[in-house]
Amino acid sequence: MIVSNLTEIQAPVDQFPLRKPVPKAQLDVLSREILVLKKQLNAVILAHNYQVPDIQDIADFVGDSLGLSQQAAKTQADVIVFSGVHFMAETAKILNPGKIVVLPDMDAGCSLEESCPADQLGAFQETNPNFYTIAYINCSAEVKALSDVICTSGNAVKIVEAAPKDKNLLFVPDENLGAWVMEQTGRPMTLWRGNCYAHVEFRRESLLGLRGRFPEAKVVVHPESLREVRDMADAVCSTEKMITYCKASSANQFIVVTESGIIHRMQKECPGKEFLCAPTFDAMRAPTDPCHCSECKFMKMNTLEKVRDCMRDLAPRVELSEDILRRARLPIERMLEVSARPQS
Ligand code: 13P
Ligand code: SF4
Repeated sequence: MIVSNLTEIQAPVDQFPLRKPVPKAQLDVLSREILVLKKQLNAVILAHNYQVPDIQDIADFVGDSLGLSQQAAKTQADVIVFSGVHFMAETAKILNPGKIVVLPDMDAGCSLEESCPADQLGAFQETNPNFYTIAYINCSAEVKALSDVICTSGNAVKIVEAAPKDKNLLFVPDENLGAWVMEQTGRPMTLWRGNCYAHVEFRRESLLGLRGRFPEAKVVVHPESLREVRDMADAVCSTEKMITYCKASSANQFIVVTESGIIHRMQKECPGKEFLCAPTFDAMRAPTDPCHCSECKFMKMNTLEKVRDCMRDLAPRVELSEDILRRARLPIERMLEVSARPQS
């Protein structure tokens, strides 16, 4: 069943005005300033796999949402610099209420988070007292506080398999990840109607051409993608597992169906292999434009300069009420505990 919600998510038309490349000399100065600030503040820099290469290269840890949450849960640093999007920095704050958590751009949101306002979730939960709510980590702290357990794309199958058998599962806010998890587990769930505006731009038709030109290439797909695209995949997995898959595979070419920022790590960690950015549907609408790789406009709001600035100013900071911090922590800790269990 799909819950018919509320907010229509529109893919922005002009998403990616070309970023001006920052001169190397300027990048070097910024990187040096960041390293000095990092020591002064006893800070840790956590960066998502979708961040621009300059940021990935100065980060202490680069990973997927699960890896970043695990790092945030165990850090000894006094300041957490979260180079990702807002819900990720919020998760780090929930796990570290006494620490300062800064992010380079407070406006770095997520279309999935937008699709599930807490008041609408609360009202829907009231329609069935037997709901057990599983929230994809791409949601607000308020939605986490209303949930029984959190999951990421890296552990969603395990989390759903561990959910109480006598409950009706409500999965929010990503209908595509939810549908994929249902296929994997055979467990029926009520799905909230939200999606990632960037991943739904990948379509079967836009991939067919590239696959035809590179028939030997393995196709790796993020589960936020549509079913018509997941069905073409050799592997459907989180960004971290994509890297592990490409490293372990004997193939030399990969079509990567997710945000293009991940290519940087793939190239670094799999030398000699070739990574092809999957074209989005846009490529079919305007086939003469040079680049149609998918970029998340939110992830790409962060720049190395903004990383330096947020460390220098210790702002913008993530702040949450005591009540939300307390209530949102439990479902995140439950996720970390289930995730750490050995595979049965
Ligand atoms: P990961 O769980 O692979 O980090 O994905 C996060 C995300 O936002 C994908 O769009
Ligand atoms: Fe959200 Fe999609 Fe961007 Fe990930 S890629 S942060 S799901 S909008």
